Amino acid sequence: MTTAVGPRTWSRRHLLDVDGLSRDELETILALAVDMRNVRAGREHPSLLEAETVALAFFEASTRTRISFELAAKALGATTVDLGVDRSSVSKGESLVDTLRTLERTGVTTVVIRHSDSGAPHLAARETGLRVINAGDGVHAHPTQALLDALTLREFFGSLDGRMVVIVGDVAHSRVARSNIHSLQSLGARVRVAGPAPWVADFNHWPGVEVATSLDDGLRDADAVMALRVQLERGAESFGDFVADWRLDEDRMALALPGAPILHPGPTNEGVELTAELANGPRSLIGRQVENGVPIRMAVLALVCGAV
Ligand code: CP
Repeated sequence: MTTAVGPRTWSRRHLLDVDGLSRDELETILALAVDMRNVRAGREHPSLLEAETVALAFFEASTRTRISFELAAKALGATTVDLGVDRSSVSKGESLVDTLRTLERTGVTTVVIRHSDSGAPHLAARETGLRVINAGDGVHAHPTQALLDALTLREFFGSLDGRMVVIVGDVAHSRVARSNIHSLQSLGARVRVAGPAPWVADFNHWPGVEVATSLDDGLRDADAVMALRVQLERGAESFGDFVADWRLDEDRMALALPGAPILHPGPTNEGVELTAELANGPRSLIGRQVENGVPIRMAVLALVCGAV
Protein backbone atom coordinates (compact mmCIF):
# COMPACT_ATOMS: atom_id res chain seq x y z
CA MET A 1 0.00 0.00 0.00
CA THR A 2 1.34 3.43 -0.87
CA THR A 3 0.45 6.17 1.57
CA ALA A 4 0.97 9.91 1.76
CA VAL A 5 2.16 9.50 5.32
CA GLY A 6 5.80 10.15 6.11
CA PRO A 7 7.93 8.24 8.60
CA ARG A 8 5.72 6.62 11.21
CA THR A 9 5.64 8.10 14.69
CA TRP A 10 3.50 5.26 15.99
CA SER A 11 4.61 2.58 18.44
CA ARG A 12 1.51 1.93 20.56
CA ARG A 13 -0.26 -1.44 20.94
CA HIS A 14 -3.45 0.17 22.24
CA LEU A 15 -5.56 3.27 21.69
CA LEU A 16 -7.01 4.05 25.10
CA ASP A 17 -7.29 7.84 24.84
CA VAL A 18 -6.11 10.76 22.76
CA ASP A 19 -4.70 12.29 25.93
CA GLY A 20 -0.96 11.83 25.63
CA LEU A 21 -0.86 11.43 21.85
CA SER A 22 1.61 13.86 20.34
CA ARG A 23 0.64 16.17 17.51
CA ASP A 24 2.79 13.96 15.21
CA GLU A 25 0.81 10.89 16.24
CA LEU A 26 -2.49 12.69 15.65
CA GLU A 27 -1.26 13.86 12.24
CA THR A 28 -0.23 10.29 11.40
CA ILE A 29 -3.74 8.99 12.13
CA LEU A 30 -5.46 11.78 10.18
CA ALA A 31 -3.20 11.39 7.15
CA LEU A 32 -3.58 7.62 7.14
CA ALA A 33 -7.37 7.97 7.37
CA VAL A 34 -7.30 10.03 4.18
CA ASP A 35 -5.29 7.25 2.51
CA MET A 36 -7.75 4.68 3.80
CA ARG A 37 -10.54 6.19 1.73
CA ASN A 38 -8.78 4.76 -1.34
CA VAL A 39 -8.78 1.32 0.23
CA ARG A 40 -12.44 1.56 1.07
CA ALA A 41 -13.26 2.75 -2.44
CA GLY A 42 -11.59 -0.39 -3.79
CA ARG A 43 -8.72 1.46 -5.42
CA GLU A 44 -6.21 -0.49 -3.31
CA HIS A 45 -6.53 -3.98 -1.82
CA PRO A 46 -3.93 -4.27 0.89
CA SER A 47 -5.54 -6.95 3.10
CA LEU A 48 -3.44 -5.40 5.83
CA LEU A 49 -5.26 -7.20 8.64
CA GLU A 50 -5.84 -10.63 7.11
CA ALA A 51 -4.02 -12.27 10.05
CA GLU A 52 -6.11 -10.41 12.63
CA THR A 53 -9.32 -11.32 14.42
CA VAL A 54 -11.06 -8.23 15.77
CA ALA A 55 -13.74 -8.58 18.45
CA LEU A 56 -16.41 -5.95 19.04
CA ALA A 57 -17.23 -5.93 22.75
CA PHE A 58 -19.91 -3.30 23.21
CA PHE A 59 -21.24 -3.32 26.77
CA GLU A 60 -23.24 -0.16 25.93
CA ALA A 61 -25.48 0.62 22.98
CA SER A 62 -23.90 1.97 19.81
CA THR A 63 -24.75 2.38 16.15
CA ARG A 64 -22.04 4.56 14.58
CA THR A 65 -18.98 3.33 16.43
CA ARG A 66 -19.85 -0.37 16.36
CA ILE A 67 -20.87 -0.52 12.71
CA SER A 68 -17.96 1.59 11.49
CA PHE A 69 -15.38 -0.46 13.40
CA GLU A 70 -16.84 -3.64 11.91
CA LEU A 71 -16.78 -2.20 8.38
CA ALA A 72 -13.28 -0.81 8.92
CA ALA A 73 -11.90 -4.15 10.08
CA LYS A 74 -13.55 -6.00 7.19
CA ALA A 75 -12.32 -3.47 4.65
CA LEU A 76 -8.77 -4.30 5.76
CA GLY A 77 -9.29 -8.06 5.52
CA ALA A 78 -9.69 -8.90 9.22
CA THR A 79 -12.00 -11.54 10.62
CA THR A 80 -14.55 -9.92 12.91
CA VAL A 81 -16.65 -11.28 15.75
CA ASP A 82 -19.32 -9.47 17.74
CA LEU A 83 -19.42 -10.50 21.40
CA GLY A 84 -23.14 -9.69 21.53
CA VAL A 85 -23.01 -8.86 25.22
CA ASP A 86 -26.72 -9.51 25.89
CA ARG A 87 -26.50 -13.09 24.64
CA SER A 88 -22.99 -13.78 25.95
CA SER A 89 -22.03 -15.39 29.26
CA VAL A 90 -21.74 -11.91 30.74
CA SER A 91 -25.46 -12.37 31.40
CA LYS A 92 -24.54 -15.37 33.62
CA GLY A 93 -22.16 -13.27 35.68
CA GLU A 94 -18.84 -13.76 33.87
CA SER A 95 -16.50 -10.87 34.64
CA LEU A 96 -15.14 -8.44 32.07
CA VAL A 97 -11.59 -9.78 32.42
CA ASP A 98 -12.66 -13.44 32.17
CA THR A 99 -14.77 -12.59 29.13
CA LEU A 100 -11.86 -10.89 27.39
CA ARG A 101 -9.42 -13.68 28.31
CA THR A 102 -11.89 -16.12 26.78
CA LEU A 103 -11.93 -14.11 23.57
CA GLU A 104 -8.13 -14.10 23.56
CA ARG A 105 -7.96 -17.88 23.97
CA THR A 106 -10.31 -18.39 21.03
CA GLY A 107 -7.92 -16.48 18.78
CA VAL A 108 -9.08 -12.87 19.00
CA THR A 109 -6.08 -10.55 18.63
CA THR A 110 -7.67 -7.11 19.02
CA VAL A 111 -10.69 -5.98 21.00
CA VAL A 112 -12.72 -2.84 20.42
CA ILE A 113 -14.44 -2.16 23.72
CA ARG A 114 -17.21 0.18 24.84
CA HIS A 115 -18.15 0.12 28.51
CA SER A 116 -20.08 2.26 31.00
CA ASP A 117 -17.16 2.07 33.48
CA SER A 118 -14.42 4.66 32.95
CA GLY A 119 -11.15 2.75 32.78
CA ALA A 120 -12.54 -0.57 31.51
CA PRO A 121 -10.31 -0.48 28.36
CA HIS A 122 -7.27 0.23 30.56
CA LEU A 123 -8.14 -2.83 32.66
CA ALA A 124 -8.42 -4.89 29.48
CA ALA A 125 -5.00 -3.68 28.31
CA ARG A 126 -3.45 -4.48 31.68
CA GLU A 127 -5.02 -7.90 32.29
CA THR A 128 -5.00 -9.48 28.82
CA GLY A 129 -2.62 -9.87 25.91
CA LEU A 130 -5.13 -8.32 23.53
CA ARG A 131 -4.57 -5.11 21.64
CA VAL A 132 -7.24 -2.77 22.97
CA ILE A 133 -9.07 0.10 21.28
CA ASN A 134 -11.34 2.27 23.42
CA ALA A 135 -14.73 2.80 21.76
CA GLY A 136 -15.99 4.94 24.66
CA ASP A 137 -15.63 4.37 28.42
CA GLY A 138 -17.99 6.02 30.89
CA VAL A 139 -17.45 9.76 31.03
CA HIS A 140 -13.74 9.36 30.42
CA ALA A 141 -12.78 9.12 26.74
CA HIS A 142 -13.98 8.42 23.21
CA PRO A 143 -10.77 8.71 21.22
CA THR A 144 -11.96 7.65 17.76
CA GLN A 145 -14.88 10.09 17.96
CA ALA A 146 -12.44 12.91 18.70
CA LEU A 147 -10.25 11.78 15.79
CA LEU A 148 -13.12 11.72 13.29
CA ASP A 149 -14.26 15.12 14.59
CA ALA A 150 -10.74 16.47 14.04
CA LEU A 151 -10.67 15.04 10.51
CA THR A 152 -14.06 16.62 9.76
CA LEU A 153 -12.99 20.02 11.05
CA ARG A 154 -9.65 19.83 9.23
CA GLU A 155 -11.43 19.07 5.97
CA PHE A 156 -13.61 22.13 6.53
CA PHE A 157 -10.96 24.62 7.69
CA GLY A 158 -7.73 23.21 6.28
CA SER A 159 -5.90 23.98 9.54
CA LEU A 160 -7.23 24.17 13.09
CA ASP A 161 -4.50 26.52 14.28
CA GLY A 162 -6.16 29.39 16.17
CA ARG A 163 -9.72 28.26 15.42
CA MET A 164 -12.24 28.56 18.25
CA VAL A 165 -14.29 25.39 18.68
CA VAL A 166 -17.18 25.70 21.13
CA ILE A 167 -18.63 22.58 22.77
CA VAL A 168 -22.20 23.23 23.97
CA GLY A 169 -24.49 21.40 26.38
CA ASP A 170 -23.98 18.56 28.83
CA VAL A 171 -20.19 18.74 28.93
CA ALA A 172 -19.94 17.27 32.43
CA HIS A 173 -21.12 13.82 31.38
CA SER A 174 -19.43 13.78 27.98
CA ARG A 175 -16.49 11.54 27.12
CA VAL A 176 -16.65 13.05 23.64
CA ALA A 177 -15.99 16.53 25.06
CA ARG A 178 -13.03 15.37 27.16
CA SER A 179 -11.35 13.63 24.23
CA ASN A 180 -12.09 16.51 21.87
CA ILE A 181 -10.53 19.05 24.24
CA HIS A 182 -7.26 17.08 24.16
CA SER A 183 -7.11 16.46 20.43
CA LEU A 184 -8.33 19.90 19.32
CA GLN A 185 -5.85 21.68 21.58
CA SER A 186 -3.02 19.43 20.37
CA LEU A 187 -3.91 20.31 16.78
CA GLY A 188 -3.75 24.04 17.54
CA ALA A 189 -7.41 24.92 18.12
CA ARG A 190 -8.81 26.94 21.00
CA VAL A 191 -11.65 25.31 22.95
CA ARG A 192 -14.54 26.82 24.88
CA VAL A 193 -17.17 24.80 26.75
CA ALA A 194 -20.61 26.33 27.24
CA GLY A 195 -23.58 25.10 29.24
CA PRO A 196 -25.54 25.45 32.46
CA ALA A 197 -23.04 26.18 35.27
CA PRO A 198 -23.20 22.70 36.90
CA TRP A 199 -22.35 21.09 33.54
CA VAL A 200 -19.24 23.14 32.88
CA ALA A 201 -17.91 23.98 36.37
CA ASP A 202 -15.25 21.22 36.37
CA PHE A 203 -13.67 22.69 33.25
CA ASN A 204 -12.65 25.92 34.98
CA HIS A 205 -9.52 24.01 35.99
CA TRP A 206 -8.67 22.58 32.56
CA PRO A 207 -5.62 24.26 31.06
CA GLY A 208 -6.49 26.59 28.21
CA VAL A 209 -10.23 25.82 28.22
CA GLU A 210 -12.60 28.80 28.26
CA VAL A 211 -15.89 28.37 30.14
CA ALA A 212 -19.19 30.14 29.37
CA THR A 213 -22.49 29.82 31.22
CA SER A 214 -24.70 31.66 28.74
CA LEU A 215 -25.28 30.88 25.08
CA ASP A 216 -24.45 34.45 24.05
CA ASP A 217 -21.05 34.26 25.75
CA GLY A 218 -20.52 30.73 24.50
CA LEU A 219 -21.10 31.34 20.81
CA ARG A 220 -19.32 34.69 20.50
CA ASP A 221 -16.55 34.48 17.84
CA ALA A 222 -17.03 30.72 17.46
CA ASP A 223 -15.46 29.25 14.31
CA ALA A 224 -17.30 25.94 14.86
CA VAL A 225 -19.95 24.68 17.28
CA MET A 226 -20.29 21.15 18.60
CA ALA A 227 -23.59 20.28 20.28
CA LEU A 228 -23.82 17.45 22.82
CA ARG A 229 -26.68 15.19 23.83
CA VAL A 230 -27.96 15.39 27.40
CA GLN A 231 -26.56 12.13 28.83
CA LEU A 232 -29.53 10.94 30.87
CA GLU A 233 -27.99 7.46 31.15
CA ARG A 234 -25.06 8.97 33.08
CA GLY A 235 -27.21 10.77 35.62
CA ALA A 236 -27.60 14.12 33.88
CA GLU A 237 -30.42 16.20 35.26
CA SER A 238 -31.65 19.15 33.26
CA PHE A 239 -31.06 22.58 34.78
CA GLY A 240 -33.68 25.28 34.37
CA ASP A 241 -35.31 25.28 30.96
CA PHE A 242 -32.56 23.68 28.90
CA VAL A 243 -34.46 23.78 25.63
CA ALA A 244 -35.42 27.44 26.02
CA ASP A 245 -31.96 28.54 27.14
CA TRP A 246 -29.60 26.26 25.21
CA ARG A 247 -31.20 24.61 22.17
CA LEU A 248 -29.28 25.58 19.06
CA ASP A 249 -31.12 26.79 15.97
CA GLU A 250 -30.30 28.91 12.92
CA ASP A 251 -31.14 32.16 14.73
CA ARG A 252 -28.86 31.39 17.65
CA MET A 253 -26.06 30.26 15.34
CA ALA A 254 -25.99 33.88 14.14
CA LEU A 255 -24.14 34.58 17.41
CA ALA A 256 -21.20 32.56 16.04
CA LEU A 257 -18.94 33.69 13.19
CA PRO A 258 -20.64 33.74 9.76
CA GLY A 259 -20.78 30.28 8.21
CA ALA A 260 -19.68 28.49 11.38
CA PRO A 261 -20.49 24.78 10.99
CA ILE A 262 -22.48 22.71 13.48
CA LEU A 263 -21.24 19.28 14.59
CA HIS A 264 -22.74 16.65 16.87
CA PRO A 265 -21.28 13.23 17.73
CA GLY A 266 -24.72 11.61 17.61
CA PRO A 267 -27.11 10.23 18.41
CA THR A 268 -28.97 13.54 18.30
CA ASN A 269 -32.15 14.32 20.18
CA GLU A 270 -33.54 16.74 17.62
CA GLY A 271 -35.65 19.42 19.29
CA VAL A 272 -33.65 19.20 22.53
CA GLU A 273 -30.00 20.18 21.99
CA LEU A 274 -30.57 21.43 18.44
CA THR A 275 -33.40 21.75 15.94
CA ALA A 276 -33.95 19.29 13.09
CA GLU A 277 -33.57 22.20 10.66
CA LEU A 278 -30.09 22.97 11.97
CA ALA A 279 -29.05 19.31 12.15
CA ASN A 280 -30.08 18.73 8.55
CA GLY A 281 -29.32 22.18 7.15
CA PRO A 282 -26.43 23.59 5.12
CA ARG A 283 -24.25 24.33 8.16
CA SER A 284 -24.37 20.76 9.36
CA LEU A 285 -21.28 18.51 9.26
CA ILE A 286 -23.06 15.78 11.23
CA GLY A 287 -23.38 13.44 8.24
CA ARG A 288 -19.73 14.02 7.32
CA GLN A 289 -18.70 13.09 10.87
CA VAL A 290 -20.39 9.71 10.41
CA GLU A 291 -18.78 9.21 6.98
CA ASN A 292 -15.36 9.90 8.47
CA GLY A 293 -15.85 7.22 11.10
CA VAL A 294 -14.88 4.30 8.87
CA PRO A 295 -11.56 5.66 7.50
CA ILE A 296 -10.51 6.90 10.93
CA ARG A 297 -11.18 3.48 12.42
CA MET A 298 -9.37 1.78 9.54
CA ALA A 299 -6.34 3.95 10.29
CA VAL A 300 -6.47 3.23 14.01
CA LEU A 301 -6.83 -0.52 13.48
CA ALA A 302 -3.93 -0.60 11.00
CA LEU A 303 -1.66 1.36 13.34
CA VAL A 304 -2.54 -0.50 16.52
CA CYS A 305 -2.03 -3.82 14.73
CA GLY A 306 1.35 -2.67 13.41
CA ALA A 307 0.20 -3.24 9.83
CA VAL A 308 1.50 0.00 8.28
N1 CP B 1 -21.04 9.02 18.61
C1 CP B 1 -21.22 7.76 19.01
O1 CP B 1 -20.41 7.21 19.76
O2 CP B 1 -22.34 7.17 18.50
P1 CP B 1 -22.81 5.70 18.82
O3 CP B 1 -23.19 5.65 20.28
O4 CP B 1 -23.98 5.45 17.89
O5 CP B 1 -21.64 4.77 18.55
